[in-house]
Amino acid sequence: EAATLKNIASHCKEYGFIYPSSEIYDGLAATYDYGPYGSELKNNIKEYWWKAMVRLNENIVGIDAAIFMHPTTWKASGHVDAFNDPLIDNKDSKKRYRADVLIEEQMAKLQAKIDKEVDKAAKRFGDAFDKDQFISTNPRVVGYAEQIAEIESRMKSSIESGDLEALKQLIVDLDIADPISGTRNWTDVRQFNLMFSTELGSVAGESGKIYLRPETAQGIFVNYLNVQKTSRLKPPFGIAQIGKAFRNEIIARQFIFRMREFEQMEMQFFIQPGTEMEWYEHWKAKRIAWHKALGLGDDNYRFHDHLNLAHYANAACDIEFNFPMGFKELEGIHSRTDFDLGAHEKFSGKKLKYFDTATNESYTPYVLETSIGLDRMFLAVMSASYVEEKLADGSERTVLKIPPVLAPVKVAVLPLLNKDGLPEKAEAIMRELKLDFNAQYDAKDAIGKRYRRQDAIGTPYCVTVDHQTLEDSTVTIRERDSMEQQRVSIEELIGTLEEKVSM
Ligand code: GAP
Repeated sequence: EAATLKNIASHCKEYGFIYPSSEIYDGLAATYDYGPYGSELKNNIKEYWWKAMVRLNENIVGIDAAIFMHPTTWKASGHVDAFNDPLIDNKDSKKRYRADVLIEEQMAKLQAKIDKEVDKAAKRFGDAFDKDQFISTNPRVVGYAEQIAEIESRMKSSIESGDLEALKQLIVDLDIADPISGTRNWTDVRQFNLMFSTELGSVAGESGKIYLRPETAQGIFVNYLNVQKTSRLKPPFGIAQIGKAFRNEIIARQFIFRMREFEQMEMQFFIQPGTEMEWYEHWKAKRIAWHKALGLGDDNYRFHDHLNLAHYANAACDIEFNFPMGFKELEGIHSRTDFDLGAHEKFSGKKLKYFDTATNESYTPYVLETSIGLDRMFLAVMSASYVEEKLADGSERTVLKIPPVLAPVKVAVLPLLNKDGLPEKAEAIMRELKLDFNAQYDAKDAIGKRYRRQDAIGTPYCVTVDHQTLEDSTVTIRERDSMEQQRVSIEELIGTLEEKVSM
């Protein structure tokens, strides 16, 4: 049975992966703290990404920019003016909604009707079914599709032109009711900027207002010439960064899927104008291959092309992952043109062009971006790894089948019994292993119970020290997923484990 978000959240809490933040004060909405195993897993995901992006690409380097940036950054980037959600309140339930999400839900309902018609027809016609032809000719399907297209076009034009009254009218025309109160008693639609602001030093008021970055990308853009010069790079080259980002999301929910404080792993790739489509395809292929290589299941990924492009993009898609609540965005790949560098050039008055010594010409590079949410990647790993299993002997276990390279604890060292010199021998092995791996020593409770505990935190290997160990210096290695055991000599242990868990 597929895991639910609730199963995963409670497992994460029980085993020290993720706790609700400030829990003793009843928590703070949609804010979470990563516990001992959670922070290990998070660090491993970061390292796995960093290695693939920075270490393995000689033309990509990393930086670590400040969260605070000069406030003009966000004017130039468009975030002050355009990083808004249109909100509407229901006066009866006192609930607040994103107007565009309410409308998109109506479009999804129409799409579901189309899918149902297609499924029915596919069953009826069998092999002779021509889906494209059916969609373009069946009167009912054509009707639904026309409704979707009309809603989409009205929504898009009202959002793009900032016509909030038209957006409200669309909600009225679609006869959308509040899911909680069932009523249609709405306020007007208002724009709500997603950036968090605070004040710098002692300068209060508008003049001292600064923002917490809503994306890490801008720290890369404003540094691109510094990095290019000091690293002696020429396009195509990339700059990568991992760091916190903040968005005052209205509907922050679904565990760590949408948070107000989260982490991004972003890479901006600086290229010659005109080559962006080539690089767009290149990075799409590279990124999906990175995901699939982890082994969470190829069928769990799909691309979703953006029709509504963000203010900075000329082509964009998401890599979606099959989370417990369905396919949702995990990573974005965006062709950002020279939008950002051009705007920073204009607002700062500084030249941000790259001078090509080969052609004696300067140009503003175009940018291809890959942007993945670290917390979402964490949730993807958890969703695909969490399994409740019934074993052959009738017992049950909950196991996290986390890819070994990402597992928080790589190996547990367990004396079979807590006597007869076994603990001393196991402790000696532990002292060795912990120099190379995140290892855990556990001598408490029966061995079966200890295996279950390691299964629950996703430890891929358990090394057990038994009486035979004292005689011939061999131990058993138990593999988490198959639960099979293999005997190896202590001498070979580190080499054997390294082969299985190293990145
Ligand atoms: N620099 C481009 C950018 O920020 P985005 O699509 O807004 O693009 C990129 O965000 C990624 O950041 C998303 O694919 C998602 O994984 C993650 N992300 C965005 N908002 C988030 C939130 N509120 N909580 C958790 N992750 C989020």
